[in-house]
Amino acid sequence: MSVNPLRSQDVYIDAGKNVTFLMLSLLHKEQATEKEAVEETADRLQAIKRSLNVRYPDSHLRIAFGISSLAWDYLFPSAPKPNELEDFTGIKGDKYDAPGTPADLFLHVRADDQSVTYEVVDEVMTFLRPVTTTVDETHGFRYFEGRAIIGFVDGTENPIDDDAIEWGIIHDEDPEFENGSYAFAQKYLHQMDNWKDLSAEQQEQVIGRKKFTDLEQDDEEKNQRAHNVAAQDNRNGIEHKIVRMNVPFSDPGQNITGTYFIGYARYWNVTKAMLTNMFTKNDLILDYSTPVSGQVFFIPSLDTLDKIADNQY
Ligand code: HEM
Repeated sequence: MSVNPLRSQDVYIDAGKNVTFLMLSLLHKEQATEKEAVEETADRLQAIKRSLNVRYPDSHLRIAFGISSLAWDYLFPSAPKPNELEDFTGIKGDKYDAPGTPADLFLHVRADDQSVTYEVVDEVMTFLRPVTTTVDETHGFRYFEGRAIIGFVDGTENPIDDDAIEWGIIHDEDPEFENGSYAFAQKYLHQMDNWKDLSAEQQEQVIGRKKFTDLEQDDEEKNQRAHNVAAQDNRNGIEHKIVRMNVPFSDPGQNITGTYFIGYARYWNVTKAMLTNMFTKNDLILDYSTPVSGQVFFIPSLDTLDKIADNQY
């Protein structure tokens, strides 16, 4: 078999306009009932998507549904497990830490039309609400030209087309789980007052790019702790990539503003290396951004979803 992105969930395009992220915990009370609810979700998800695509063809609906390591062990104790799936228990940095959030299921829905995003999440929750509690629900949005809420275009150096498939989707290194992916979801709150006190040039030093034009700074201009330097995973001289689809969220009335980081990867160890670099190299972005959650989820291929739906695991 060779990799086939048409059998993947929506892990290689794109950040979307109206976005909902849900992290859920199973009740861990009645395994059989909870497993049935997950099987039903796996079964119905593509039908929900097909229906909304027929009704709203221009809405660019994209969905990814994921399962954490804890949930995999609980739901499918005798099934094979994706090679790199593990529980993310956090990273201790020099100055800042990245917490790990215990959670079982993950849903990432985006569409141009907010009613479409809402409809999908509501329909999926019909199956999952009786067997879960919500760990976090975040509603994100596209900000101007795809900028992070801190004003810089986010996603410029993302791999696209064949490269997105190369770096975003599991290949035959894990044949049972080919066309799956590893999603890392991490919610950050920004210290916006401190950020806004910086000049544009100071902010550019933090990110490593020009704010208005989005051009990369010259190497000699760049701070070694700039985000686009510190976060790189260049092990063995190879620039490893992931597919990032971050979006901002904000409740301005409550002075809550942040970035929901979401990175899809063929190799979880690449995302993990980037994270470890950020927190051990004191990435300057962390002086203005505090992570409040984080977990890795396996995003099954459509074929694996079918197997889950058919109770084959
Ligand atoms: C507060 C949260 C974050 C914000 C606002 C943010 C924003 C940005 C921005 C604006 C860029 C430059 C443009 C681009 O290439 O996309 C960038 C680059 C990058 N980000 Fe983040 N990011 C965040 C968290 C993370 C995390 C958690 C990771 C890794 C797990 C990460 C990995 C990267 C990498 C590797 C690059 C450089 C890409 C390259 O130049 O090849 N970012 N990010």
